[in-house]
This record gives sequence, structure tokens and C-alpha cells, in this order.
Amino acid sequence: MQKKKNDKSGKGPLAGKTAIVTGASSGIGRSTALALARDGAAVVVCARRADRLKKLVAEIIAKGGRALAVAADASNIADIDRLLNQALLWKDGRRKYDIVVVNAGRGLAGGLLQSDAAQWQELYDLNVLGAAHLMRQAGQYMVGRKAGHIVALGSVVGRNVSPFGSVYGATKFAVAALAEGLRREVGAHGVRVSLVMPGIVLSEFQAVAGYTDENFGKNIAQFGELLEPQAIAEGIRWLLAQPPHVNVSEIMIRPTGQSYP
Ligand SMILES: NC(=O)c1ccc[n+]([C@@H]2O[C@H](COP(=O)([O-])OP(=O)(O)OC[C@H]3O[C@@H](n4cnc5c(N)ncnc54)[C@H](OP(=O)(O)O)[C@@H]3O)[C@@H](O)[C@H]2O)c1
Repeated sequence: MQKKKNDKSGKGPLAGKTAIVTGASSGIGRSTALALARDGAAVVVCARRADRLKKLVAEIIAKGGRALAVAADASNIADIDRLLNQALLWKDGRRKYDIVVVNAGRGLAGGLLQSDAAQWQELYDLNVLGAAHLMRQAGQYMVGRKAGHIVALGSVVGRNVSPFGSVYGATKFAVAALAEGLRREVGAHGVRVSLVMPGIVLSEFQAVAGYTDENFGKNIAQFGELLEPQAIAEGIRWLLAQPPHVNVSEIMIRPTGQSYP
């Protein structure tokens, strides 16, 4: 493969690796894609907003990295398959992938009684079924290669549910179960699975979920400084940089002042 001018992807702990990051147009996914590119990975970035992805790819390339944008709906099985196929066709990514960050997801304000039930299907299609399909396809591929790392984004509310977002929390309990089940299926084949459970991170997440000062802001006022997406990206970078026989199976990263959940 010909080296590009200003190409820094031959350096760093992830040099030679190709990573797919879903939900990369904003927040944690965007920060993670930038961090992995900085560490030398070629990065396939996915989300629905193609314009955002285009800008992100330009930013990574301008810094000497390699990136490919694939606009896709992570709740749609055909789109997920297309994403994985495009990664396998991408010459700069060496026509393979080593890392998949299953990050695309959304929240939903309110508990079982108060949340908008009209959004439950969409929430499950994206957070659970879309994530499960991606983890299954990537898991099968990685077992075949006897290597790879799948990182799934759960949540603190996927471990300790909160009454302010219990339907969303239920989707993240499902993600935690899928990640741990998958880890047990694929570990013997040299494939790692990590579950990352963030506390409150300021991103577009709150607006998409429908959180307001009334139903969210006043509950978290005492938590002090909240996390920025980079804090989670740093955790993901760290666990990916461990040697192949070390699997950090789960991490929880909260704002220091977040006492609950
Ligand atoms: N922020 C928090 O406090 C927090 C806490 C715990 C866990 N998490 C989890 O962390 C992950 C990232 O959240 P975030 O805070 O970074 O939220 P965010 O800023 O809203 O980003 C969500 C990303 O997912 C993408 N996305 C949403 N629906 C999609 C779909 N149907 N198909 C493809 N991509 C889709 C969005 O892009 P497009 O709109 O362009 O498609 C965006 O890039 C989520 O799984 C979330 O549940 C967040």
C-alpha cells in the first residue's frame, strides 16, 4: 500500500488496525473515532448524518489519519451489513476490521409510567436489536480470524436502573447481557468483548432523549461537573491498547460527583 503524505497511521498502539465506530457523528462516538485515529487506526465512521461524517473524515485525514464515512441506520439490518461490507472493501483499511465500537444509541426520558411509549420500538430497534446484529456479524467474522475486539456502550443505568429512564435502562441491561454472553462465546477464539458503562456525559444524548431541566436537570444539579465525551473515549483507548491476552470486560466511568445511579 502506498504511503500518503502526512500519513501518521503507521504509528501508535493501534497502527495497522482498522476500527469501525457507530454513532460517530456526535458525542462519545465522534471523540472515540478521533482518539483511535490518533492512535494509528484506520477508522470507518458510521451514523445517519452524512454531512457530519464527511467533516469528521476530513478532520482525521487532515491530521494524517485514515477514515471512511458510511452513512447508515444502525437499527437497520441491511444497513449494518452494508457497513461491514464497505469496511471489508476499503483499501486504506486493508480490507479487514479488527475493532468494532458498538456505540450508536439513544436515550428516552422518563420511567415506565412517564416515558413516551410510541418511542419504545425505535429505542429497542436501535439500542438492542441493531446492536445485537452488529455484535453477531462482527463476532462471527472475528471468530473466523481468531482475533478482534468488540466494545459495546452500555450505561450505568444498565447496571443500576433509574426511575428517570427505566425503559432506556432496560435496553442497556440487554446490551450488558449481550456483551457478557458474547464474551463467553468468543473468548476461547481469541476475540475480546468489553462493555463500557458511562455515567452522565454531556452530548446530544440529553436533547434526543427529551431530558429537560424539569425531568433531569434538577436531579443532577448536585453531581457537579459532568463528563465530556473525551473521558469515555480515553477509557476505550486504554482498554483497546491492552495486549491481546488481556480483556477488560467492563468499565464504568462516572463524573466524580455522580452518586446515583
Ligand atoms: N451521554 C450519556 O450520558 C450516556 C450515558 C451512558 C451511555 N451512553 C451511551 O453512549 C452512546 C453514545 O451516546 P452519546 O452521549 O455520544 O449521544 P449522542 O451525542 O446523541 O450521539 C449518538 C450518536 O448515535 C448516532 N445515532 C443515533 N441513532 C442512530 C441510528 N438509528 N443509526 C445510526 N446512528 C445513530 C447519532 O448520529 P446520527 O443522528 O447522525 O445518526 C450520534 O452519532 C449511546 O449508546 C448512549 O446510550 C450515553
